[in-house]
Amino acid sequence: RQRQMCIRDSGIIMDGNGRWAKKRALPRSAGHKAGAEVFRTISKECGRLGLESATFYAFSTENWKRPKEEVDAIMRLFKDYLLEAKSDITAAGDMKMKFIGERDGMSKELLELMDEAEEDTSEHCGTTIYLAVNYGGRLEICDAVNKLIAEGKTNITEKDISDNIFTPPECDLIIRPSGEQRLSNFMLWQVSYAEMWFTDKLWPDFKPADLHKAIIDFQNRGRRFGGV
Ligand code: IPE
Ligand code: IPE
Ligand code: MG
Repeated sequence: RQRQMCIRDSGIIMDGNGRWAKKRALPRSAGHKAGAEVFRTISKECGRLGLESATFYAFSTENWKRPKEEVDAIMRLFKDYLLEAKSDITAAGDMKMKFIGERDGMSKELLELMDEAEEDTSEHCGTTIYLAVNYGGRLEICDAVNKLIAEGKTNITEKDISDNIFTPPECDLIIRPSGEQRLSNFMLWQVSYAEMWFTDKLWPDFKPADLHKAIIDFQNRGRRFGGV
């Protein structure tokens, strides 16, 4: 597995929707709507580029703190996406759709649509698009540990956790737009040797060319994984 040049698994923190809307004197929900469009474009571009997986951070376990109106708008957009996820995602080749995060707290209607989208694309063998909704990195690690305890494990190894988290265990590249340079509880286990790439662009302004730039920058970095 050559990791120096080749990008397999990436994570994208879709941040900056609110500021994008504010700049235009629009409600925050309009920013989320524009952001959802960009997700459609960029997820398909990840498929076209042949990444093994791309994980998109859509809603964190902490985002419930936001006003109900905003949370409701985000969940409505999520539902709109789910209703067309299969045709949207298959139009671009045979990508697989998976949802990661806590099911508790999500509506039954959304959960059913999520299961359907996963089932409908489960036979596909292209890029896996993980959509992180009601997701927290610490929660993901705790879930993995609890699952191992329930299986009767007493001495938990790194491999055990790597095998029981939601996504591939090594993330190559994290992309965060919006100018913030933090992880905000995203993929904490997976990022141990990930390359970080930041841009001041807001997520609704993010273009396939920005993804290409991130990947080219990634390919020009030297990864050492603690070696020489
Ligand atoms: C990201 O955009 C979407 C979610 C966190 C749901 P934000 O809504 O965080 O946008 P900013 O950071 O306020 O600009
Ligand atoms: C992280 O963005 C979560 C998502 C993009 C879904 P936030 O906007 O919630 O993160 P903070 O609060 O700026 O750290
Ligand atoms: Mg934000």
